[in-house]
Amino acid sequence: MPFMEPVCLMEKIEHHLESIPTLESSRMRIFQVLQDEETSIESVEQVVSSDPAMAAKVIKLANSAFYRHADRHVGIQQALRTIGLDMVKCIALSMAVMESFGNETSSMKGLWRHSYAVALVSGLLGGTRSEKEGLFTGGLLHDLGRMVLVCRIPDEYLPLYDFSGYWPDPVLERDSFSMDHCAIGEMVARRWHFPPEVIQIIRHHHEPVNRLTALVGLTDQVVAQHERGILSGDFEREDLFLGHLGPEYKELVNTIRDRYRTNTAIVENMG
Ligand SMILES: [Fe+2]
Ligand SMILES: [Fe+2]
Repeated sequence: MPFMEPVCLMEKIEHHLESIPTLESSRMRIFQVLQDEETSIESVEQVVSSDPAMAAKVIKLANSAFYRHADRHVGIQQALRTIGLDMVKCIALSMAVMESFGNETSSMKGLWRHSYAVALVSGLLGGTRSEKEGLFTGGLLHDLGRMVLVCRIPDEYLPLYDFSGYWPDPVLERDSFSMDHCAIGEMVARRWHFPPEVIQIIRHHHEPVNRLTALVGLTDQVVAQHERGILSGDFEREDLFLGHLGPEYKELVNTIRDRYRTNTAIVENMG
């Protein structure tokens, strides 16, 4: 399957990883303002308005068919109230990451839609505010390594998508590149100084090691099944879900499916 020797590809990936710029953008600062519990709608309006491209995305989403406004062409404050802070966070963080990668292809758009869905659903599964934040950000970035592969070595990575009929699993990636998207994502997230729980989610969402990694891992698989149109009750590594979430993980699947369905239309409008 691979067109180059895995070792050569690994060297190529490592070279690309070194060239990824740090995430010190004004959009990251906006994301941090949004994460602050004390932030008021006025201060969110102020920071979003200072970034015309982001403000345009916020207004476009608020004006999209999903929200069905009687009064179309809303202003920024009304737009923020309409779409809610989680959506603004999705927009801010994805714009910050895209700015660093500098590549917006249709494959990337599909991957972002998948990531928004996982973030919006898994963010609701946390018990505490900090758990919710970790799940949301971890959910949004869980496939960060895939984004690196799609942006930096598309000619080698996208054929694996065509071969699998969906995003390739880590085993196929390791066979092809001697490295998988979980390890690549972890390296980038460390360079970008994301918190440990977010880095753990990126590293272990396919092989959960604790509750948070299991919640994102399960959400990821349920979302993937919806995206592929195959709704089965079987999941990979159910032993780990059972171990970290207990027998009630089966009920969680239904909760995740319901929340995914309510969020699908919004995610479709995001881009
Ligand atoms: Fe993944
Ligand atoms: Fe995923």
